[in-house]
Amino acid sequence: MAAADIKLRIKRKDAEDDAFYWEEFNIPFRKNMNVISALMEIQKNPVNAQGEKVRSVAWEYNCLEEVCGACSMKINGKVRQACSTLVDRLEQPIVLEPMETFPVEKDLVVNRDRMFSALKKIKGWIPIDGTYPMGAGPLISSDDQQEAYKYSTCMTCGCCLEACPNVNSGSPFIGPQALGQTKYFNMHPTGAQQKNHRLEVIVSEEGIANCGNSQNCVQVCPKEIPLTTAIAELNKDANRYALRSWLKR
Ligand code: SF4
Ligand code: SF4
Ligand code: FES
Repeated sequence: MAAADIKLRIKRKDAEDDAFYWEEFNIPFRKNMNVISALMEIQKNPVNAQGEKVRSVAWEYNCLEEVCGACSMKINGKVRQACSTLVDRLEQPIVLEPMETFPVEKDLVVNRDRMFSALKKIKGWIPIDGTYPMGAGPLISSDDQQEAYKYSTCMTCGCCLEACPNVNSGSPFIGPQALGQTKYFNMHPTGAQQKNHRLEVIVSEEGIANCGNSQNCVQVCPKEIPLTTAIAELNKDANRYALRSWLKR
């Protein structure tokens, strides 16, 4: 290995039901290289540190600018995006692992379906014109727009679920991302038409009662979304909703 080379240690898996194994690679260093460009070097020449030709490493990416969330993985033990992580700021060997909260399909590729299912459950959208025009949308104050903007930057990356001690394969918890998005869509005057439907999910066994308030989620969110603020506010809304439902019985 030349002095300027970088060393990667990657946790791999050939298929969903196979066992994990570790493999090391030495690749040439280039200035301003990020973790994705390091993985691309392996793709060009899939030869491990022992000089053996191996299967190229699988991972996901799309935007390359920390917007899509697809390249999320554990890098030196910290969950983050491979596209925005510069290699020369990392200790070597650079250890890459798939996120653990999600089923691992192959190498660094995980299945993030549980987050998209949670978004469907909470109706993570604003209803607009359908079979008939619903008219002009309501005006939103600039203060509300600024607050909503933070939540709108969520890229469904999964970092907050990975960090949450209460999200795992045996737990029905929808997780911090869906809680943040519930707050976001309930804030919108048109989105609020479905507020009760969303709160029904929030008070269900999949909802907010699963949150132990450890605050790990807010610390790892790459978009600095105020997840714990959303959770605290949703808690109040959920309590009011539960009380109203009980009084209506
Ligand atoms: S505050 Fe709640 S949602 Fe966030 S990491 Fe802790 S338990 Fe999970
Ligand atoms: S809330 Fe933050 S950490 Fe969680 S999925 Fe969205 S962007 Fe990722
Ligand atoms: S490739 Fe889209 S966030 Fe990294």
